[in-house]
Amino acid sequence: MYENIRVELNEVTGIGTVTMNRPKALNALNRDTLSELAAAFSEIAADDRVKAVILTGEGRAFVAGADISQMKDLSVLEGRDMTRQGQAVMNQIEALEKPVIAAVNGYALGGGCELAMACDIRIASTKAVFGQPEVNLGIIPGFGGTQRLPRIIGKGNAKYYCMTAEQIRAEEALRLGLVSKVVEPEELIPEANRIAELILTKAPIAIKAVKLAINNGMDTDQDTGVAYEAEVYTTSFASRDRIEGMTAFVEKRPAMFEGK
Ligand code: CAA
Repeated sequence: MYENIRVELNEVTGIGTVTMNRPKALNALNRDTLSELAAAFSEIAADDRVKAVILTGEGRAFVAGADISQMKDLSVLEGRDMTRQGQAVMNQIEALEKPVIAAVNGYALGGGCELAMACDIRIASTKAVFGQPEVNLGIIPGFGGTQRLPRIIGKGNAKYYCMTAEQIRAEEALRLGLVSKVVEPEELIPEANRIAELILTKAPIAIKAVKLAINNGMDTDQDTGVAYEAEVYTTSFASRDRIEGMTAFVEKRPAMFEGK
């Protein structure tokens, strides 16, 4: 049903996989692809069978950025529309109340780096290459990169990479904290699944609460963030799974979480 992405669900594990699938153009994000991503993530949000998501790319790229051949002919106002569309998709992925893991298989440049940064967790294959090369094109990152990159790797490092357009290889991305792990290419999808499955063994309400507390709390000052954490913590404390988790610990047995 989609032309530029592939969406699959493993019904046994509850893990959905979204694969960027326009390898001829290194999975560049044109406007149709952005619309497809928005539609797919809306479906995923509404589908209770999907418990966690892996986002990856077909071929040698994760996503090589926004589609330059399409952007080249846009008017200024159309350019603004495209930025807003891309930002909305990134915000939608970031806000999804399910864990999203970027399994970065290759080039993640410009909008591709921004897409990976909208995910909760990033792991990379040794072939991954990140970067924000927009200044080569006379523009700046426009799908949230100037905001998410400094929050992840710090202001100085973000300015360094956005101003120099230097590519960031996988090991350097690991050193910068842009990814949590680097694995051999053939291990990338198994490792992403292992991480997703591990998360899915935990209390679902607590997992959702962690995402909310970090995402919403971090964009405020620390006192406000800590106060917000107390509210979200209380939600997890009110769950039946909290009683089960603590009782199981005391009884020295594995917890059986219900997501309630
Ligand atoms: N948009 C459109 N097409 C792209 C593309 C992009 N971002 N990146 C690659 N392609 C296309 C190429 O045009 C080429 O198509 P043809 O075969 O039809 O010529 C095909 O993908 C393969 O690419 P290359 O031949 O260039 O492959 P390479 O191995 O020599 O180089 C690369 C790979 C270094 C990733 C190079 O393709 C490249 O530099 N791509 C552009 C990266 C970039 O600047 N991204 C930022 C885009 S702007 C942006 O994203 C703005 C934003 O924040 C919203």
